[in-house]
Amino acid sequence: MDGFKKRLSDSVQLRLSVTLSLAILIVAVLAGIFAFVSALDEAHEMQDETLRHVAVLFDRQQMTLHYPAAEKVPGDDEESRVIVQYLADGSKAPGSNDDSVIPLPFPTTLADGLSTLNIAGEDFRTLVRTTARGERIVVAQETGVRDKEARESAWRSLLPFLILFPVLLLVVSDLVRKLFRPIATLSDEIDRRDKQALHPIDEHHLPTEIRPFVVAINRLLARVAQSMETQRRFIADAAHELRSPMTALSLQAERLKATPMPTQAVERLLPLSQAIERSRKLIDQLLALAAAQSNAERPPTTVSVHEVYRRVLEDLLPLAERKNIDIGVESTEDVQVFINEMDLLILVKNLADNAIRYTPCGGRVDLSVELAQDTVTLQVKDSGPGITADEQMRVFDPFYRSVGTEESGSGLGLSIVRAIAERTGARVRLGYSDETTRRGLCVSIELKRGSD
Ligand SMILES: Nc1ncnc2c1ncn2[C@@H]1O[C@H](COP(=O)(O)OP(=O)(O)OP(=O)(O)O)[C@@H](O)[C@H]1O
Ligand SMILES: [Mg+2]
Repeated sequence: MDGFKKRLSDSVQLRLSVTLSLAILIVAVLAGIFAFVSALDEAHEMQDETLRHVAVLFDRQQMTLHYPAAEKVPGDDEESRVIVQYLADGSKAPGSNDDSVIPLPFPTTLADGLSTLNIAGEDFRTLVRTTARGERIVVAQETGVRDKEARESAWRSLLPFLILFPVLLLVVSDLVRKLFRPIATLSDEIDRRDKQALHPIDEHHLPTEIRPFVVAINRLLARVAQSMETQRRFIADAAHELRSPMTALSLQAERLKATPMPTQAVERLLPLSQAIERSRKLIDQLLALAAAQSNAERPPTTVSVHEVYRRVLEDLLPLAERKNIDIGVESTEDVQVFINEMDLLILVKNLADNAIRYTPCGGRVDLSVELAQDTVTLQVKDSGPGITADEQMRVFDPFYRSVGTEESGSGLGLSIVRAIAERTGARVRLGYSDETTRRGLCVSIELKRGSD
């Protein structure tokens, strides 16, 4: 009960349904009682009227009475019978307790008009009238029969309420559910959103009562988007500003290498120029991540996946040769995809760069593409150690690097891949190249197919 009370105070929908249902129930009960009592009264009035009509008819037709003993008339129902007799005949009644024997022993002192009497153990409604000929007649009917008929007619008057009440309840609950449906649809839509999707909610098809709330949420979304954009721009600007001094430093280090120096100085210069190179790479990756996350429009075109692979291999072949890694394209058939070419190039390059760098010397890296129905799947497989299931979710976080990795890196490559995938609607999945030995990383990118 406490749970229901809590739900009732928490939910406007439930409150509205319960209040409306209770209001309908109360109105239906009150109207039902009123209809029942009125119908009962009306039925009794009609029955009294019938007694009056019989008396008037008797008087007007100047009828005479005789009481045939136990004579059966077809269609005569003893219980609902209307009895007419001279009042004076009541004293000549056989005095039996059987009310089927006529005349009945009505008291001769009865005044003209309607009354209810108990005769021979049975209640009767009687009407006494003095006719034009001066005779006093009594018209009577058993009250039990009258009440039964009146009750039946009163119950029939309740029928519309019995039909209307459940119909109204159904209409109310359906109406309330429909009224609140836009809120459920709205929360569904917001729940399904990607975390980067900060575009405003379409408030035009919403009811006026919810619209101000949605407009306020839209204003908040706009502020959040603006603040995220400011942060991204700051990182991009900072990286950009650092790039020129870093290039100058790198150039100076190169020139210094060419100058004759004592061996000790040459030994100290090596870690210095390596650190400068790492910083340059970090700045480049930071710029790439800021660009991948920015909202700037990048028009998609139809791109050949094999052409992108060729350009990536061209760039990375020296690195692969240095490690004696056999890198190549495995698929024979090219596939066209509808995407921004630069986005696809950066994405594949980061994956292939990882595959070469984290695969031990003498290993193997395969790039492939496959078209199944409307989905294009790009795969980058290597023969390295792979990434364990525990780590698979974490490697996409910025600056995350597996412990024990000897290769240098900034930890931003897979974050860039994820940012591009989210923006282009691609799906990234990590797995093993060889599922049985659980070795080698296999990265699959699922994209929508482009127009050929
Ligand atoms: N092919 C792979 N095989 C094994 N481990 C991998 C592979 N690719 C990525 N990793 C692991 O995931 C981590 C994150 O990779 P990510 O590309 O984001 O950063 P990075 O390679 O360290 O630096 P960056 O790519 O920015 O130079 C790496 O440090 C590495 O430990
Ligand atoms: Mg990397």
